[in-house]
Amino acid sequence: FHVDMDASETDKGPYPYYMLKEIDEQPNVMRKLAALYTQESGKPNIDTNLINALSEADRIYIVGAGTSYHAGLVGKKLFEKLAHVPTEVHIASEFAYDDPLLSEKPFFIFLSQSGETADSREVLVNVNANDYKSLTITNVENSTLFREATYTMLLHAGPEISVASTKAYTAQIAVEAILAKALGEAKEQTIAEDFDIRQQLGLVATGMQAIIDEKDMIEGLAKKYFVPAPRAFYIGRGIDQTVSLESALKLKEISYVQAEGFASGELKHGTIALIEEGTPVIGIITQRKTANLTRSNLQETMSRGASTFTIVRRELALDGDTIVIPDVDEMITPLLSVVPAQLIAYFTSLNKGLDVDRPRNLAKSVTVE
Ligand code: G6P
Repeated sequence: FHVDMDASETDKGPYPYYMLKEIDEQPNVMRKLAALYTQESGKPNIDTNLINALSEADRIYIVGAGTSYHAGLVGKKLFEKLAHVPTEVHIASEFAYDDPLLSEKPFFIFLSQSGETADSREVLVNVNANDYKSLTITNVENSTLFREATYTMLLHAGPEISVASTKAYTAQIAVEAILAKALGEAKEQTIAEDFDIRQQLGLVATGMQAIIDEKDMIEGLAKKYFVPAPRAFYIGRGIDQTVSLESALKLKEISYVQAEGFASGELKHGTIALIEEGTPVIGIITQRKTANLTRSNLQETMSRGASTFTIVRRELALDGDTIVIPDVDEMITPLLSVVPAQLIAYFTSLNKGLDVDRPRNLAKSVTVE
């Protein structure tokens, strides 16, 4: 078969590793998705058959593995907020064999960069056997999950070559946000009608670039605190907790730092016992409602010797914060808060002299269960 790929898309160019190239491409992916999936008026531009099928569902089930699962956790918040549809997110390998209890009218959304993950496919085979409707959101046209789902949406992120996923995660969230808005509008939800996703994605693109432009500062941080660290923690609440999981995964995958993402309020119920002198703990703080709570949880780790850092949305920033990210709507802050974490993982791996793009024991797409 023929793969239609631009030479520049698969060429590293001036970049030492694909991962850095792919992090850098994120602002453009955001602009592209806004242009493709929204109209100039700000209205979503999505297949009406898909929206009609989704509108009939009483519950959405999102299925994914690894980073795609983490993008699903953000999607749950978006579908529930913007469209008021109860949404569950499942790890593909668990869902396939757990005989989960389903609602009357389920709708399945498969998230997969490659479209080839065997664990996710196993679920889709069952979904099809039961004649349930599904949507695959993937980066690869004509991949297995693309071919076998009822509906498809492409991520348009360009080939992602580095094993650690970056631009596919942010593209998945952007597509989920547009889809959730479209569904919310179909359900006449005021919050969805008022949510200007097209404008927001423009702000996200500029915001991502501003963070990327700070990469020297982030490299300094990675060298000093993360390269020597045997373990590290990311903490946050709500949507920030979901980003803490993805941030920790990045660090584990490519820099082999034993990292955990955690609900910041839950730390004191056990995990805080792991904090030692100098353990890096990063608080992700983007939500007005929980900012002070996460700050005080961070303080608790600091008094036990942790080296604490913050990734904070500008409106909530205070003197002494580490990385300040631009303001965007609170529903889509993961699109920005994850970028410093991607860069911390990248520079930690790089400065440990590891092969950033090809970490040990991992494959870009896993086609066995
Ligand atoms: C592999 C990769 C991960 C990825 C996961 C799911 O384990 O190493 O980076 O998140 O598969 O891949 P998918 O292509 O389904 O998003």
